[in-house]
Amino acid sequence: MPATRSRFALFAFAAIAALAAFAAPAPEKDVFEFVPEGGRTLLAKAFAGRVPAEDVRAIIGGKHTSVEWIADLRARENALPALKRLDDKQRRTLADYLATNMPLAKPPADPAKADWDKVLPLDGRDMALNYCQGCHIITVVITQDRSKTAWLGTMGKPSHVQIKLTPAQRDALANYLIVNAAIPIDQVPEELRAGGATY
Ligand code: HEC
Repeated sequence: MPATRSRFALFAFAAIAALAAFAAPAPEKDVFEFVPEGGRTLLAKAFAGRVPAEDVRAIIGGKHTSVEWIADLRARENALPALKRLDDKQRRTLADYLATNMPLAKPPADPAKADWDKVLPLDGRDMALNYCQGCHIITVVITQDRSKTAWLGTMGKPSHVQIKLTPAQRDALANYLIVNAAIPIDQVPEELRAGGATY
């Protein structure tokens, strides 16, 4: 019966189309979005758009302690408006990052055209995501509330000495974690909550 057959064909076509739509890749959701931004991203945001070259140059050429950087960032809020939107944790994260990484070893030839996300050295978030998930999920790291000594102690354990981070990078990662770890478990995405350790 041709009528039935064509109705079947139509049904089959609709089913395939529906399946294809279902199988189409959903927009990527970044499961690590909950891990707070580090100094690289915060600084790249502060440098985005039309910002005064003298402030950019002063920052990438500056050498200060973290406490001094906090004051410096406050003083530049009008010139670099993204700095106004930093909360206390972000301001300290950025100040610690600047104390570690400035003056920039390889400043870009033309700061106005620099792709800051790529030019700037890794921050604590980058290091945690790149180096702290090989043996256990990031949750083991990012939910802990610890002192700097305790963080450095963990990284110095036999289970962690082989990780390819220099002492300076370990120090910078510890600074990031003191301020940004201790994330309550209910803010960690379900899929990262349990059963992720392979050690
Ligand atoms: C080479 C494998 C490996 C990598 C990579 C790794 N860990 Fe671990 N981690 C372990 C093992 C094994 C344990 C459990 C045994 C122990 O605590 O030594 C552990 C446990 C921990 C714990 C809980 C116990 C403790 O000692 O405090 C923390 C916190 C931790 N890791 C932090 C980190 C951080 C930060 C990084 C990234 C710098 C990292 N881990 C990367 C192997 C690893």
